[in-house]
Amino acid sequence: MSRGGWVLAGIASGLVAITVAAGALAWKPALPPVPPPAAAGFDRATVLRGQTLVHLGNCSTCHTAPGGRGFAGGKALRTPFGTIFASNITPDPETGIGRWSSEAFTRAMRDGVSRDGSLLYPAFPYDHFTHTSDSDLDALYAFFMTRPPVRTQIPDNRLAWPFGYRPLLVAWNLLYLKKDAINEADRGRYLAEGLAHCGACHTPRDRWGAEMSDRAYDGAWTEGWYAPALNARSPAVQPWTADELFEYLRTGRGAMHAAAAGPMSEVTRELASAAEADVRALAGYFAGLMADAPAAKGDLARRDNESLADRTHPEGGILFAGACAACHDAGAPMMQQGRPPLAWGTPLHEDTPHDTLQVIIQGLGASASGVGPSMPAFGNDFTDRQLAEVAAYLRTRYTDLPPWQNLEQAVSDVRKAGGR
Ligand code: HEC
Ligand code: HEC
Ligand code: HEC
Repeated sequence: MSRGGWVLAGIASGLVAITVAAGALAWKPALPPVPPPAAAGFDRATVLRGQTLVHLGNCSTCHTAPGGRGFAGGKALRTPFGTIFASNITPDPETGIGRWSSEAFTRAMRDGVSRDGSLLYPAFPYDHFTHTSDSDLDALYAFFMTRPPVRTQIPDNRLAWPFGYRPLLVAWNLLYLKKDAINEADRGRYLAEGLAHCGACHTPRDRWGAEMSDRAYDGAWTEGWYAPALNARSPAVQPWTADELFEYLRTGRGAMHAAAAGPMSEVTRELASAAEADVRALAGYFAGLMADAPAAKGDLARRDNESLADRTHPEGGILFAGACAACHDAGAPMMQQGRPPLAWGTPLHEDTPHDTLQVIIQGLGASASGVGPSMPAFGNDFTDRQLAEVAAYLRTRYTDLPPWQNLEQAVSDVRKAGGR
């Protein structure tokens, strides 16, 4: 063999050794299947408590495919590494978790290991669920085991090489899975870090898809939206008090802030059915984290630079007058009912225009409670240029911040990410 050949052979055998080592380290025993537990065996109060926890954990959002049966999986989750399909977590004995013991369920939630011993991808937020207490996990197990079983075929994941090889996750778990217990008495923190996994969207991730613990709640990209900072770096211009947060998390609307939109409106729709005390605890926790944010120290901006905006963005001004003012101008019926002026919302004050564009392109459904005004989608009516114009107009009119750059590029990014 040539020298090059030896080197290559050396590298190859090194790789084989690493792969074998990863496989050995990653090896977790399969836990024995159990006869499907009878629904009648679970205590009703525990099942009901489990149900409120399911809403906190957002299980349905990921585990229910569009138009599919509840918790039957099959929803495609796009990650930077490829597409991962959520599992069927109904108690179907063949295709769901019907033959899982409560030990197997607990191991999946705490360690990210499936019943058969294979490692699960952190697209399933077990790095958060790991903090969940025994009694909360028991209640969740009771809830799922008493659901109607659904038989489904989950498509195979489509992941870039080498990420399809699950034993590699052993390295991820060694580096990133911190299984420390969080004191349940600090209920807000326990839920935020654990079941409610707020950081999964609001904390930036490193190149391996792990949340950066030193930048907790600094704000991050998710599904073409920007989930803003929920700490002292919050770009909000109205203070987030515990009461205001409670109202927002519970209904998707707040009297002083922009409506919850996109992925956040799904979160609030779920929190509407969680236990009230738990949502209050979350609200109190985040109000604490944002206590040093600029908005908490005084109202920052309630601008209405109307003439400046009309002068600098005349086309945006005409579009706004024709398509938006009937709802958003001072004096419009919606405003008289107490909806907040656009100047109060965080989206216009973010460094990037994406959240504002998403709302204009997709519109807004009614609030989580189903009441209150909604907003039509403008994605089909406006050209990319018109969308950029109207966003530029809003930014100038309702903030004193520098104009957004590359607006048309942002419009096309948002359309590609799923906005129409
Ligand atoms: C952000 C999306 C997301 C959320 C929220 C989520 N899951 Fe999952 N879950 C997944 C994905 C994706 C998988 C499959 C992972 C894989 O194949 O490696 C999964 C897998 C699982 C598994 C393993 C199933 C199996 O057959 O191995 C269980 C159990 C589970 N989830 C329970 C839950 C529960 C309970 C909740 C709510 C408390 C929940 N999940 C919330 C995305 C999610
Ligand atoms: C699936 C992703 C996702 C999860 C999980 C999530 N958020 Fe959000 N959140 C977003 C996005 C995206 C936005 C920005 C869009 C908008 O303004 O509605 C947002 C906006 C917010 C805002 C408004 C901030 C402002 O200044 O306007 C608050 C408050 C908030 N989230 C709190 C939470 C809390 C508390 C949790 C956990 C219970 C949570 N979020 C979980 C995606 C998420
Ligand atoms: C039929 C009424 C209606 C029309 C027309 C309308 N909106 Fe809205 N818009 C709403 C409602 C309702 C909300 C949510 C406000 C709330 O309740 O907090 C909203 C929210 C928004 C938001 C998110 C910030 C916030 O305060 O919630 C933006 C940005 C926005 N609208 C821009 C526009 C633009 C630009 C147009 C015109 C192209 C427009 N809207 C037309 C009803 C409307």
